Amino acid sequence: MSRSTFETDPVRLAGPFPADFAWGFAASAYQIEGAAAEDGRGPSIWDTFARRPGAIADGSSGNVACDHYHRYRDDVQLMAELNARTYRFSTSWSRVLPTGTGAVNQPGVDFYERLVDALLAAGIKPLVNLFHWDLPQALQDRGGFGDPAVVGWFADYAALVAAKLGDRVKDWMTFNEPAVFAFLGHADGIHAPGLRDWPTAMRVADNELRAHAAAVQAIRAEVEGARIGVAIDVNQVAPATDSERDRVAAEQWSSARDAWFLDPLFGRGYPTLGFEAHREAGHLDGVDLSEPPAGDLDYLGLNYYRRDSVSARSDRPFDWEIGAAPGSEQTLMDWHVAPDGLRDVLIDLNARYAPAEIMVTENGAAYPDASEPDGRVRDVDRLEYLARHIAAVGEALRAGVPLTGYYVWSLLDNYEWSLGYTRRFGIVRVDFDSQRRSAKDSARWYQRLIARP
Ligand code: FCB
Repeated sequence: MSRSTFETDPVRLAGPFPADFAWGFAASAYQIEGAAAEDGRGPSIWDTFARRPGAIADGSSGNVACDHYHRYRDDVQLMAELNARTYRFSTSWSRVLPTGTGAVNQPGVDFYERLVDALLAAGIKPLVNLFHWDLPQALQDRGGFGDPAVVGWFADYAALVAAKLGDRVKDWMTFNEPAVFAFLGHADGIHAPGLRDWPTAMRVADNELRAHAAAVQAIRAEVEGARIGVAIDVNQVAPATDSERDRVAAEQWSSARDAWFLDPLFGRGYPTLGFEAHREAGHLDGVDLSEPPAGDLDYLGLNYYRRDSVSARSDRPFDWEIGAAPGSEQTLMDWHVAPDGLRDVLIDLNARYAPAEIMVTENGAAYPDASEPDGRVRDVDRLEYLARHIAAVGEALRAGVPLTGYYVWSLLDNYEWSLGYTRRFGIVRVDFDSQRRSAKDSARWYQRLIARP
């Protein structure tokens, strides 16, 4: 595609967005904080998983990551310079409750208090996400998210964090990408806790929905005027060919994965098509599913990155290949770049579920950034990725989707889970030896796009 076929002018791109639109950055605790064994933090399942031989591409862990635990003031300052209106971060459950329940670790609570205060002082609105996959190891040892007791554990943890921060934080998120946690962590085994058992994954998904509902109640009880949502990852799902088999497979996959969470959250129970696919594949063997409670959402968070093509190897559900269409434009994650997919997913979510508000709670890209001798990173590919996706959000807004925010994933290059430090998503470069941060060209560009009028 020629570079001139889309708009990159930041001022023109910002045009359709209202003045109070929430422009910001998203991050998560384990990916940036480091200080893994400091100030009383207990281990999480990611500390354990990262030690498993072969689990992480470069053998690394989040022990140090971006050292954000010590450098949070500088990072907040950096976000302020870049004109961020809001910052979405997650609290590490095992930093505030080292064994998941019971005794509170005061230094852990203090850290999040200081972070919130620094953000507010810099004019940046905090959005607190309670769960970005780093379950306390002590709770995994008691059955983890596969055990229905997790609903109570999670609600108590939510109540605690809400009680500590709720006087200053009004924007909340219960879960990030519950499908990734359930399926990649418990069926595919490529994320912590590294299990490969579909019935367990289905129990985990069910318990996440119940834990979400319980946490929403707990937050509402503690925080006056709370605005609560959840981040669901919905990429565009497309059949690889126009064969009937691929078309059916794509519909089954999107029902068994995306609607599996969305339908219950919007009070519709589990979707029939997805249910049949999971049942036929044996995923529900021995699993007792009843109607999960509705989500009671003030906003729906959408994490969007790519288009997934589904090609069926047979007529059996889950006997599918899912990935970027061959020959498509791709990022370093081998993800198919599809900004029109973001527009269409937003329009479709709005038509299907009519959420009160939608925020794009993650969007961004990994590219092989080259740092030049002068330290500059001319990441034109990332800049263009963001420009095209922001234009797509603008189109959805004009089509009537009630969009209120957009969060770039991510401020900093960070620990990309099982890919370790081999994929850089930051619009700010991190030199992991010196911990030096330097704004890439995409950061300077985003800074102009979101400048306050
Ligand atoms: C999302 C995750 C986030 C990050 C991005 C690239 O699935 O929520 O932590 O890894 O992908």
